[in-house]
Amino acid sequence: AFEEGPWRRMAAAERARLLYKLADEIEKRADEFAQLETMDNGKPVKESRWVDVVQTVETFRYYAGWCTKLEGETNHVNDKYFTYTLREPIGVVGQIIPWNFPMLMAAWKLGPALACGNTVVLKPAEQTPLTALRIGELALEVGFPPGVLNIITGFGPDSAGSAISNHMDIDKVAFIGEDKTGREIVKASVGNLKRVSLELGGKAPNIVFADADIDAAVRGAMMGIFFNQGQVCCAGSRLFIEEKVHDEFMSKLTERVGKMRQGNGLDEQTVIGPQVSKEQMERILSYCDIAKKEGAKLVCGGESPKGDLPNGYFVKPTIFDNVRNDMRIAQEEVFGPVLAVIPFKNEKEVAEQANKILYGLSAGIWTSDSKKAHKLVSHVKAGTVWVNCYNMFDPQMPFGGYKMSGYGRELGKHSIELYTNVK
Ligand code: NAI
Ligand code: MG
Repeated sequence: AFEEGPWRRMAAAERARLLYKLADEIEKRADEFAQLETMDNGKPVKESRWVDVVQTVETFRYYAGWCTKLEGETNHVNDKYFTYTLREPIGVVGQIIPWNFPMLMAAWKLGPALACGNTVVLKPAEQTPLTALRIGELALEVGFPPGVLNIITGFGPDSAGSAISNHMDIDKVAFIGEDKTGREIVKASVGNLKRVSLELGGKAPNIVFADADIDAAVRGAMMGIFFNQGQVCCAGSRLFIEEKVHDEFMSKLTERVGKMRQGNGLDEQTVIGPQVSKEQMERILSYCDIAKKEGAKLVCGGESPKGDLPNGYFVKPTIFDNVRNDMRIAQEEVFGPVLAVIPFKNEKEVAEQANKILYGLSAGIWTSDSKKAHKLVSHVKAGTVWVNCYNMFDPQMPFGGYKMSGYGRELGKHSIELYTNVK
């Protein structure tokens, strides 16, 4: 489909039209997609509907617009010569994605790869294949040429995942998931030296200064760690609170957390659902035990709920206070609704601790002092820094990591760099 097929040869406007049509068809079936996503992942169906489906549609539309804007350059050398560049698709692209935002991550990957004229083999996570399969089905229905968008289900190691990352006819692989798996992907890529982009985990500092709007920061802290049951690569899992407002903040936070309604993701009233799998639940609970042994103070949660909840992989919203930045609960990605609260004395201290971490995907800063905010924005080693908000996304906004959080930037025009060669 790449070498011989019509995809990269067709008018750019025609590729755009197909991507717009795909977005429209997904939007028309928003309820169906929301149900599928929640059945697979467990997340509250309201979130599936208003976050995952909406952003998936917007991402496809955004990249549909790029099809007709993949320009090259001309450069004057002297009066005899000029040079020009062409932006060409890379070829066959392999994409391996995780289970936390199954359809949205598919859109982040497919949108730009297809807009640039590549063909794609996408492997959804084994826990959550349904929405990607449905997107593939709709793509054929709206008229994508066969073979352009391939959805291959299967496991990671010694299966569909490693088949993609090792394949000599795949020219680029894009991965989102655990850093350990990212290393395997890089190793596998050396066979044909395929291009690699990685979006790996994080352990984001979310920093609250005493001069912040405390109510807004409390809501932001909750959004930072409990959204999607904490299974978010950019989760604000290290919450730094300035000592002066620590007690006030904690009492407001625990009061709100106590009111969160946990339950079946398909229930419209649910705000926090189950974890994606038994394995993930057990991993999170084991980190709660580690935190207790390390001497962190358990404020709430730390276990699965008992009694009236239906059977499921639930973990109560959990807060540990008096955490030190060098504890494992502050250094390792838990990927669950577990918040590590680290009190701090002053700006200098928190600036140092924020960067004492192997990851660098994102960070949050809450303050009414814009000078302080900008100073810290440039100091923090992270690809995204939110100021007085958290987990805000837009297809125009680049996303990606410093340090062990990966390489390459996605979204905006940055994905275009990932999916084209410059000739
Ligand atoms: P994972 O990174 O192993 O899996 C993600 C994707 O990679 C899946 O599609 C899987 O099938 C595939 N995969 C796994 N091993 C592979 C290999 N050797 N070659 C090619 N593909 C492979 O993540 P997993 O095991 O589901 O979760 C473990 C931990 O990873 C989580 O507890 C969490 O901390 C972290 N994680 C981070 C994510 C992020 O967005 N940063 C997403 C998912 C998990
Ligand atoms: Mg794994």
